[in-house]
Amino acid sequence: MNFMGNGADLDAPLALLGGASARRFMQRHWQKKPLLVRGAMPGVQPPTTRAALFELAANDDVESRLVMQDERGWRLRRGPFARRALPAARRPGWTLLVQGLDLHEPAAQALLRPFRFVPAARLDDLMLSWASDGGGVGPHLDSYDVFLLQVQGRRRWRWGRARDTRFKPGLPLKILEHFEPTEEALLEPGDLLYLPPGWAHEGVAAGECMTASIGFRAPTRAGLAAELLGRLADAAPAAGDGALYRDPAQAASAEPGRMPPALQAFARDAVERALRRPGAIELVLGEALSEPGARVGFDAAEGRSACGGVELARGTRMLYDDTHVFINGESWRAGGRDAKLLRRLADRFALDAAGVAGASREARALLDDWLAAGWLQERAAGDPA
Ligand code: SIN
Ligand code: CO
Repeated sequence: MNFMGNGADLDAPLALLGGASARRFMQRHWQKKPLLVRGAMPGVQPPTTRAALFELAANDDVESRLVMQDERGWRLRRGPFARRALPAARRPGWTLLVQGLDLHEPAAQALLRPFRFVPAARLDDLMLSWASDGGGVGPHLDSYDVFLLQVQGRRRWRWGRARDTRFKPGLPLKILEHFEPTEEALLEPGDLLYLPPGWAHEGVAAGECMTASIGFRAPTRAGLAAELLGRLADAAPAAGDGALYRDPAQAASAEPGRMPPALQAFARDAVERALRRPGAIELVLGEALSEPGARVGFDAAEGRSACGGVELARGTRMLYDDTHVFINGESWRAGGRDAKLLRRLADRFALDAAGVAGASREARALLDDWLAAGWLQERAAGDPA
């Protein structure tokens, strides 16, 4: 079986990881040190063509960047790009980076599958870059874990621990001032380089090439706090925390500008209550992390049927914890057999006809709603589930 999820063998040696198992990779490399794998995906095909990628970059719904380096230095432009706005493919030293290719190309989504031993809550997207000879984005650091998969042509990567994380001033791109790589490799199609966050790296195209970046986001503490506190606050009135501040004991004040300590205590208590509600943080975390990307749209349609099985539509994010399932920013309580089935859908991206038939009437109604919303699609016959 080539999928991960319930029942996956986490101890099986994987060519993808150079013969290491998923478990061993996570213990030895994940967030710790790079791994270069030759022939990780032998025979890998680029998930799209150069022409189709350029066409996609003209689309408003697609996030794309163009990076060029010439005698005038580094230049960065943000898409969308009409084809004529892109340099000629034979002109050296430029690269086009397209985010979220998995939302547009089934073949790109398929390239994410082998990496399902990493929690989906960490997955960001698949970025595809096309570069002309010598193209690249310069030596830099990323704040996320990334698997760089060479899918066409060759690219020379150099990487090393970042001892000095200062960037060159005055540039449109974050380019390291002092890049001291300790490793170097020319990656061929099918080769893979895993880099943890914060490792300095630079990839330079050796002839025209395409590289897929499978990126895993790592939220910052401050970012998560802002996101979750906002959601907790939105939920507070519904959770019965609409109580009004009262101060019948307030004495007359000769310092009207001074904050009343009772109001400060009320505020502290209000925040603590919101945080203390059992399961509240887990709930808003699941909702936040299952929120689809800002540019994702779903095509709603009536009349779809779950009978033959369902699968997650492109762009749908589905997660779960011990009490809830989360899909596209919403949450449902689920227990017993329904929870098992919905979790299977989240883990394997699909639920077969037998699974659907085993769901309660309520869970079937949910699946029907999600199908109608375009969050799920009818399962293509023969897909693994
Ligand atoms: C690229 O694909 O050109 C850049 C990927 C990266 O260095 O993160
Ligand atoms: Co990078």
